[in-house]
Amino acid sequence: MINEPLNSAQAPLQLNGPWTREARERAVADEVKQAYIEYFRKAVKIRNWIPWDDLPLKEMESNGHLLSEDTITLIQSFLGVEDYVGDYVLDGLNVVHGRRERRNLQLQWGAEEAKHAESWELVLLHSGVRTQEQLTEYRDRVADHRWTMGENHPGFDTPLGLAAYAMVQERATYFNYDELRKRIRADYGLPEQATPEERQRGHQLGAAAAFKIVSTDEIAHHGMFLRIIDIHKRYFPYETLDMVFRVLNGFNMPALYILPDAQEMKAALERTKLYTPLKHGRSVANPVLDALGFDNKRALERAVQESKLLPTGLGPEAVSISRSGEFVIAMEPSEHDMAAG
Ligand SMILES: [Fe+2]
Ligand SMILES: [Fe+2]
Repeated sequence: MINEPLNSAQAPLQLNGPWTREARERAVADEVKQAYIEYFRKAVKIRNWIPWDDLPLKEMESNGHLLSEDTITLIQSFLGVEDYVGDYVLDGLNVVHGRRERRNLQLQWGAEEAKHAESWELVLLHSGVRTQEQLTEYRDRVADHRWTMGENHPGFDTPLGLAAYAMVQERATYFNYDELRKRIRADYGLPEQATPEERQRGHQLGAAAAFKIVSTDEIAHHGMFLRIIDIHKRYFPYETLDMVFRVLNGFNMPALYILPDAQEMKAALERTKLYTPLKHGRSVANPVLDALGFDNKRALERAVQESKLLPTGLGPEAVSISRSGEFVIAMEPSEHDMAAG
């Protein structure tokens, strides 16, 4: 008999102070471990899928001739971005070294990401727009470069930076894939959202189905990293908010500049306006700020400044942050105060 699943209500919750740095680190590790267990359970039991078995390859074959050149270019460059998965995982494992809960999360996340490049290869191949030889040659050229966080996004190569960057990057990837799904549907002559027939049979047509399934992974990844940042925010408010602020200010997608077809991708992005600074603000940065409990970037900036001034020794139970970025300190009267009063 399998043990009853542990849910968050049963999770070992907050320790009480004194809030030394070590105590905070320990509390973060406990909560991240819990987040990992819950994430892993859902990923394996509910969200799991197999690229070679679960994508409608036959439908890709019959509809591939409808895909536009820009759509094909974009799918190929996302194949390149996803194919750096080995570097993302390796680099991350080095950065989080010694933190078991973060390492295990990195491994499970990597196992899921590994399916995405395979899916884009299947889409391009079965749509009949690239040959196996072309795809192998492309992926070999991608492998000529090595991606590292330190080189490509300096300053984010810390355990906290990694999580903050991934939180934003996964949301941006979700957005891009959902936009690309809509583009594919437009190429196919279909409306943006699934038709009643598609809903009835449970998946969208051809390549659109692949983008739907992969984008569902991406938003789950976003949710997981968001939770990690939220945990850190309670124990290390200044460091966490400052990192989120810096990541939001200096964000760009990983590996774009080292792709073999970077120029073609850039031109296709400009023509299609798939992902513009305005769309990034509206559909990536603003939802991230909202989910972290802030009205806007000004509020986050204020919270960074205010959290710098928080008295040391205050635990998460004594501090809350308003949506406009002000810290509210709840002072429980101590026995000493009551006696004095
Ligand atoms: Fe991915
Ligand atoms: Fe992802």
